Amino acid sequence: MLVTGATGRVGRSVVDLLTDAGVPVRVLVRRSESAATLPTNIEVVTGDLTVPESLDAALHAVSTVFLVWTAPPQTAAAVVDRLAAHAQRVVYLSAPHRTPHPFFRQPNPMAALHAEIERLIADSGLDSTIIRPGMFASNALFWWAAAIRANRPVRWPYRAAETAPIDDRDVAAVVARTLYEDGHAGGDYVLTGSESLSQAEQVDIIGDVLGRPIAFEELPPDEFRRETPEAARPAVDMLLTAWNAAMGQPAYVTSTVADILGTPPRTFRQWATDHATAFTEDPHPTN
Ligand SMILES: NC(=O)c1ccc[n+]([C@@H]2O[C@H](COP(=O)([O-])OP(=O)(O)OC[C@H]3O[C@@H](n4cnc5c(N)ncnc54)[C@H](OP(=O)(O)O)[C@@H]3O)[C@@H](O)[C@H]2O)c1
Repeated sequence: MLVTGATGRVGRSVVDLLTDAGVPVRVLVRRSESAATLPTNIEVVTGDLTVPESLDAALHAVSTVFLVWTAPPQTAAAVVDRLAAHAQRVVYLSAPHRTPHPFFRQPNPMAALHAEIERLIADSGLDSTIIRPGMFASNALFWWAAAIRANRPVRWPYRAAETAPIDDRDVAAVVARTLYEDGHAGGDYVLTGSESLSQAEQVDIIGDVLGRPIAFEELPPDEFRRETPEAARPAVDMLLTAWNAAMGQPAYVTSTVADILGTPPRTFRQWATDHATAFTEDPHPTN
């Protein structure tokens, strides 16, 4: 079994869950030094999804691949061809871009990329399992942790927009299950948390967990966009469009995590509790 994205949010947990389940794992990493943080009882092979021919060693004698794609799209077709030449099945980490809820139906480059990779996989003859998580709870770390650590208000647009954040560990648990359990070929799973929460409610929950209120200062979308560094604008434009479309209705919630795992997804409160120190301690102290 080959796990890509093994140093990332989902892939890292997938590796842990597979090794806990006694499944032999090989991981693909771009740089061998990245493997220092991974379990020692796994096989590490270097390769890069933007250099398809670099994948052959990692794919040797592999039957199933967990594919995470955050690279540019240009080499996707050549990579899927190579996967199909070696493996029988791919579990692909996609997104719910086909789900009939306005939050998920806004055209954007990421949705287009996922749709294209799914098309390549479908045409390749590989058996596939498509995993479509909604908004990750851990996005809160990238979005709000710096302001909360500095005791500043969270300055954010669309305070009332609702999502059903999913704990990355639940995404990883479903991925791991579909990798080592039979019966998931052809599966197409939309994963969400169990509660629809506005962005302001999510910040309130983090404040509750930390034992202090966190002010939420709503920013007009244009101002938020102007304050966003140039490099992050495409991602922010995608989010602004999705939050705007989500206004005035509850988030889309599925029971898929519980259906597959037999246990309900972790709540946002649980996620915040387990990550509380990230909102209080500087992750990059200078001394
Ligand atoms: N964030 C959300 O709310 C959300 C919701 C739904 C779906 N998704 C999807 O989830 C995926 C991201 O998953 P994640 O958050 O677990 O990933 P992540 O934490 O961003 O990590 C990306 C992983 O991909 C690896 N990688 C990047 N470029 C590579 C390349 N050229 N060759 C080989 N490996 C490469 C990285 O390795 P290095 O350590 O070498 O960089 C890292 O292991 C995306 O496709 C996204 O669309 C995200």
